[in-house]
Amino acid sequence: MKLAHLITAAALCVTSLACWAQAPIVIKFSHVVADDTPKGKGAMKFKELAEARSKGRVKVEVYPNSQLYKDKEELEALQLGAVQMLAPSLSKFGPLGAKEFEVFDLPFIFDNVQELHRVMDGAIGSRLMKSLEPKGLVGLAFWDNGFKEMTANTPLKKPEDFKGLKMRIQSSKVLDAQFRAVGANPQVMAFSEVYQAMQTGVVDGSENTASNIFSQHHNEVQKYLTVSDHGYIGYAVVVNKKFWDGLPADIRTLLEGAMKDATKFTTEHAQTDNDEALKKIAAVGKTQMITLTREERTAWKKAMAKVHRQMEDRIGRDLILAIYKETGFKE
Ligand code: LMR
Repeated sequence: MKLAHLITAAALCVTSLACWAQAPIVIKFSHVVADDTPKGKGAMKFKELAEARSKGRVKVEVYPNSQLYKDKEELEALQLGAVQMLAPSLSKFGPLGAKEFEVFDLPFIFDNVQELHRVMDGAIGSRLMKSLEPKGLVGLAFWDNGFKEMTANTPLKKPEDFKGLKMRIQSSKVLDAQFRAVGANPQVMAFSEVYQAMQTGVVDGSENTASNIFSQHHNEVQKYLTVSDHGYIGYAVVVNKKFWDGLPADIRTLLEGAMKDATKFTTEHAQTDNDEALKKIAAVGKTQMITLTREERTAWKKAMAKVHRQMEDRIGRDLILAIYKETGFKE
């Protein structure tokens, strides 16, 4: 086709309804976990709702399991506009300069999901989401995964048991401090690399939710799992701001509605997913399950308590105190 014809065809396409119908708005949603996890299911629910409600005007392509990008790369890809939507764990926003998100990593800061949601769904959560805008992102929702358990090839019952162990962490300085507080050697590593690192002994252990441990088969290469619930993994669903602001207003409203309902769905199912995964790990039988006594858990909490103060400069004392006030946290 001659150039002039191409230009005419393109111009017609921009203005004609028929072309709009053929060219849906594509949202590439990249993430690092399996489909069968709280985030994986949330992404599929969002896709289902967005596509059905927009009657095909929006197409959501979900790329799970680090298929497109690993942890660090996916945030860069979002900022560059190579993908439109992500849901990184709250522990992964530090390298972007959004260090306050690491407040959710403070060990034992939340006793239960209700406390956590009071913080996320209130003024603190809104303020954190707003802080992403200068970085070219819009935060649409917080999604739950759940509380973390510890895994290793040696039993972890007392704080001393961590001494000298190489523990994989997400890219959060709070998690780094948490493991140093008990004498372990934390190592930042992309989620997709953890299984192999465990298998080859590059790391001795890690922390994660039961649904992540089971769906990545970590339980097949870790001899012990301590049900510690010492910290939390949740997500911020984020979109590229330029993309979001450029959407037709009716589509944006529709997507906000789909996100609201996908969020509700995720909140309702995350706990069950993790409870079931824990049972499946026990059933596979390759990992010995350890339940901490109240005294043992208190000893962990005591050993890690200093991390809250150590991190005041990084996260902000005011933010930490505001959360204590919301949750009634006591050392
Ligand atoms: C991890 O890296 O361990 C988790 O953040 C993965 C995830 O997205 O749940």
